[in-house]
Amino acid sequence: MTEANSFPDDFLWGAATSAYQIEGSPLADGAGPSNWHRFAHTPGRILTGETGDVACDHYRRFADDVRLMRDLGLQAYRFSISWSRVLPEGRGRVNPKGLDFYRRLADALLEHGIQPFATLYHWDLPAALDDRGGWLNRSTAGWFADYAQTLFRALDDRIQHWITLNEPWVVVDGGYVHGVHPPGHRNLAEAPWAAHHLLLAHGLAVDAYRAEGHHRIGVAVNLEPKYPTSERPADQAATARALAYVNRQFLDPLFLGAYPRRLAEIFGAHWPKLPAADLARIRQPMDFLGINYYSRSVVQDDPAAPPDRASRVRQDQNLHNSLDWEVYPEGLIDTLRWVNNRYGDLPLYITENGACFEDPHPLSGQVEDPARLTYLRRHLQAARAAMHEGVNLRGYFVWSLLDNFEWTFGYAKRFGIVHVDFATQRRTPKASARFYRQVIQTRGAAAFAPE
Ligand code: FCB
Repeated sequence: MTEANSFPDDFLWGAATSAYQIEGSPLADGAGPSNWHRFAHTPGRILTGETGDVACDHYRRFADDVRLMRDLGLQAYRFSISWSRVLPEGRGRVNPKGLDFYRRLADALLEHGIQPFATLYHWDLPAALDDRGGWLNRSTAGWFADYAQTLFRALDDRIQHWITLNEPWVVVDGGYVHGVHPPGHRNLAEAPWAAHHLLLAHGLAVDAYRAEGHHRIGVAVNLEPKYPTSERPADQAATARALAYVNRQFLDPLFLGAYPRRLAEIFGAHWPKLPAADLARIRQPMDFLGINYYSRSVVQDDPAAPPDRASRVRQDQNLHNSLDWEVYPEGLIDTLRWVNNRYGDLPLYITENGACFEDPHPLSGQVEDPARLTYLRRHLQAARAAMHEGVNLRGYFVWSLLDNFEWTFGYAKRFGIVHVDFATQRRTPKASARFYRQVIQTRGAAAFAPE
């Protein structure tokens, strides 16, 4: 272990979760239903027929979970706030009990020396706003900013890192292009509007933060580097389209103040005239950028794959996780380098990184998960390599602290470093959690120990 392998002293080590995936009790204490609550209760939407009604029961067990985080040595915890707990109708009346839950959570974290990172929107929209058109309604952006302002006023004394949106691309691609997330639409004409209103929501919330907040605010995007499968011009062009659609659609407006021109080519007749004046609101200085990295995609031209006419070519030579995502740590270096080169030298956090594999059942209090452990090790090595190239990476959050409700896949896909027995709610730290604790204790050096 050399100095070059350890991370800076102030590098922040954390884990991430989201509200609907872990909390359970979705209607407790006056909360309103969210779009995900409604979607999960619609037969056929979740492959396993499961819902987030109980999930990890974190709403009632949060104090124990925070103690678990402390035992793992976590220095930071990224969670999300359920909009409809705080504003049951999405706007107007505040539910004090909903707000109080997050206040108590933040207090418990601070008491154990764990820095809270709060995401304001991790996909669960109040159902009442869904009924008003959701992200197709421009007013939703303003309602989001009002909701954000309520949180800033109530909790900015406790929370120093705010994330407006989690993965807006997934909200749009899953909800409006492929219909696998709420609202379950498949409509290319809607997608650019939903994206635009999400971006506007971010911009208005940042405005509100500059007026009310005293710390740091950013956004979290999912990035996936794109590599052409061949030298053929058609595959090269498809790769450029996929890059514009997935990685640039949100970052270009946020940092450069313009949509990639290629989006007009991708959406063709469905590409609308978006109000240009909004771009000034959308492009605002941010204090940091959160990057969620899981995998890459090797791209081929595919006229049958909307909207970007690009599809993934499976790389059989490499390991894949149980969602069939290729394990490709080098892609993390390429991604961090690309962000740094294209958008400038702002502080970055890896706000999600992790893997689902089929884990064995706990045996004598142990769960061996060597594939996940190796995944984390290799990605931490990649993160460090990027930092040696000059990337301004400030922290890392493993996805996820707990096995949880993996959206359309229900509970079958386990990303946790802590195993959850959903029948008993027993938590068992996996081998990857013990590894991660050691990584934190050694400031990253344990990630470089011989395998
Ligand atoms: C990300 C989501 C997160 C989780 C992981 C596996 O896209 O932000 O909630 O589902 O994927």
